[in-house]
Amino acid sequence: MNVLGIETSCDETAAAVVSTTGDSARPWQVRSNVIASQTQIHREWGGVVPEIASRQHVRDICGVVERALGDAGANWPDVDAIAVTQGPGLIGSLLVGVSFAKAAAAALDRPIVAVHHLAGHIESIFLEHGAVPLPALILVVSGGHTSLYFVEVPGQYQLIGRTRDDAAGEAYDKVARLLGLGYPGGPAIDRRAKTGRDDAVAFPRPKFTHRDRKGVPADVVHRTRTGRPMAEFSFSGLKTAVMRALQERGVAVAQGLTVPTDAGPMSEQDVDDFCASFQRVVVETLLDALFDAARWHGALSVGIAGGVSANSRLRADSRQRGDGRELPVFIPGIELSTDNAAMIAAAGLRNFRRGMRAGWDLSAAASLALT
Ligand code: KG4
Ligand code: ZN
Repeated sequence: MNVLGIETSCDETAAAVVSTTGDSARPWQVRSNVIASQTQIHREWGGVVPEIASRQHVRDICGVVERALGDAGANWPDVDAIAVTQGPGLIGSLLVGVSFAKAAAAALDRPIVAVHHLAGHIESIFLEHGAVPLPALILVVSGGHTSLYFVEVPGQYQLIGRTRDDAAGEAYDKVARLLGLGYPGGPAIDRRAKTGRDDAVAFPRPKFTHRDRKGVPADVVHRTRTGRPMAEFSFSGLKTAVMRALQERGVAVAQGLTVPTDAGPMSEQDVDDFCASFQRVVVETLLDALFDAARWHGALSVGIAGGVSANSRLRADSRQRGDGRELPVFIPGIELSTDNAAMIAAAGLRNFRRGMRAGWDLSAAASLALT
């Protein structure tokens, strides 16, 4: 079976063909994975401009899908089903993918399967590594999300943690902007941190304990499906701490982070040190939460997916921690970490197997819960 995946939730127009293999240990195979990135276009504005993004998706989508079919050595009639990201994401961008998928499905008389973007990120782990030991604790960490999922059964994702404010990737992007490193911030900070000292600046570590929740009415505490308090991340305070530390060093920081600034009196080494110190806090916070949750839930493996999982320190430190605890760690390759359509096709295949089909009334959804 060949599934055409389509992903347009943010600033990447992506299409991919994923096929079933018949091998239960590695049930899926990526036959093509094409991404047209709009990063260069949005860089000029310091971040993604939704209107520009949706227009660019319209320009790119036909060529990207044709290329994905061509790379897979497939023609339109070879497509057995179409999987498309329904949300969450930028509504104008999502609509381009959903409309294209519906039009293609109607023309080919093929079923269409709606996919949650985060389910796609989670499935990128299984797409890359095949069957992993379950139950698994999975951290999805991207520009829009920082969430923990408990997976006992393939295809069923139980939300057990999330951020109460900024996502980790968002913090990377905002801090990079403060440091004048441009967009997207994650790869730039990752690079600069390699030559920085991670103990140069003492940024606070966001941490929530039961004590933090004291005085909060019980019905306000977010709970998981099983009634446990939800694990919570918070990264907006860290961003503010970076801003304060820059101001203390005499850097003119634009309020509200709306105007790109340059690092002014900071030396190149200072910037590297800021990057390394910031990154250390983010990575340690994420990994503490992931490995604590894995222990609490008796997970037999952990996984990390989403754009921030491309981070070199997150990859290295998670493997080190996993080795120390004899807990296998699964992270997709870089190509499947950031937004792509192969993960959407894989999640689509999973949904298809479970009998899920979208109707012609399928619409995009800017916000969409994944249990
Ligand atoms: O998953 P993704 O491609 O899109 C969303 O669904 O949001 O994630 C994009 C995010 C951006 O915030 C970007 O700065 C971050 O992933 N990112 C990184 C790295 N590469 C991308 N963050 C840290 N280190 C990286 N190497
Ligand atoms: Zn994503």
